[in-house]
Parts: sequence; C-alpha cells; structure tokens
Amino acid sequence: MHFTKEVMFHIHLIMAISWIGGSVFMFVLGIALRDKKAQQEVYPHVGPIFGWFELFSLIALLISGFYLGAYYNLFDLLLHPNHTRISDAIVKKAVLVAILSIATIIHFIIAYKTNGKERTPMQNFLSRSSSMLIFFLNLFVMHYAIILRDIL
Ligand code: HEM
Repeated sequence: MHFTKEVMFHIHLIMAISWIGGSVFMFVLGIALRDKKAQQEVYPHVGPIFGWFELFSLIALLISGFYLGAYYNLFDLLLHPNHTRISDAIVKKAVLVAILSIATIIHFIIAYKTNGKERTPMQNFLSRSSSMLIFFLNLFVMHYAIILRDIL
C-alpha cells in the first residue's frame, strides 16, 4: 500500500510538471509569436499535440490526486470541513481544480472544433479567457498543493 502511494505521488508530480510546464510554455509562445502568418503555420501543427498532451496529463493528475486524497482520508475532510489548515487547503485545492477542469473542457472543445479555421468573436473570447483562467488558477492550485504536502 505504501509502495503504491509512493508510485502515485511520483506520477502526480511528473504530471503536475507536464501540465503546468506545458501551459507556461504556451503562454510564452503566445507572447513571443506575434506574427499572424507564423501563428497560422505553427498553431495547426502544435495545437493538437499540445492539446492531447495536456489532456492526458490533467487526467493522470486527477486520477493520481484522487488516489492520494483517498489514501490520506481527505475526502472525509472535504465533505465535513473543520477549518483546520489542512481542511482549508484541501477544500480550496478541490474547488480550484474543479473550476480549472471545467475551463479546460471549454477550451478543449473550442480548440478541437476550430483548429485551422476562423473563429467567431465569442469563440475567441471564450478560448482566450479560459486559457488565462487555467494559467492563473494553476499557480493557486500549486500553492495549496504545497501547503497540503507540508502538513501531510
Ligand atoms: C490540476 C490539478 C492538480 C495539480 C496541478 C496538483 C499539483 C500537486 C503538486 C505540485 C503536489 C506536490 C506538492 C509538494 O510536493 O509540495 C501535489 C500533492 C498532492 N495532491 Fe495534487 N494536484 C492536482 C490535483 C489533485 C487532486 C484532484 C487531488 C485530490 C483531491 C490532489 C491531491 C494531492 C495530495 C493528497 C497531495 C500530497 C501527496 C503527498 O504528500 O503524498 N491533487 N499536487
């Protein structure tokens, strides 16, 4: 049991690195690659690879996270919060992860439907705001993950 938990934690960490690292890199790419023509050449190729890579790492993060949460009996705390430091950390992390997952689904569906095509202003707005939201939420999720690990 302890061995499986250690393996799950290693998976959780490597997937957190991949998931967050990917989003930081795309953020930098978005700023560095301003030229419209270059964007039209790069994004249709990189987009789908990036999308599936990110989706895979998020799902692996959630599965390993649920395993770790169950191992430490954190779901009891999540359902019955008692305002201790650990209870606050798991509640905040779980809420942020839920919002982040919804934003990722929205972003993924738009990206999947419109790759290589023109987007409507609404699709553009939803796609950009969801990616900004994912980027910033990640920083807070990491913060509460660190507090959580500090206590466990
Ligand atoms: C976007 C999703 C997630 C990200 C980016 C993420 C990130 C992280 C990181 C970076 C750590 C290590 C912190 C450190 O070493 O200081 C961690 C630990 C942990 N995470 Fe997550 N996590 C996510 C989702 C989840 C979910 C859904 C759960 C379950 C409710 C969860 C439960 C845990 C637990 C219990 C630990 C501590 C494990 C231990 O100390 O053995 N995580 N997470």
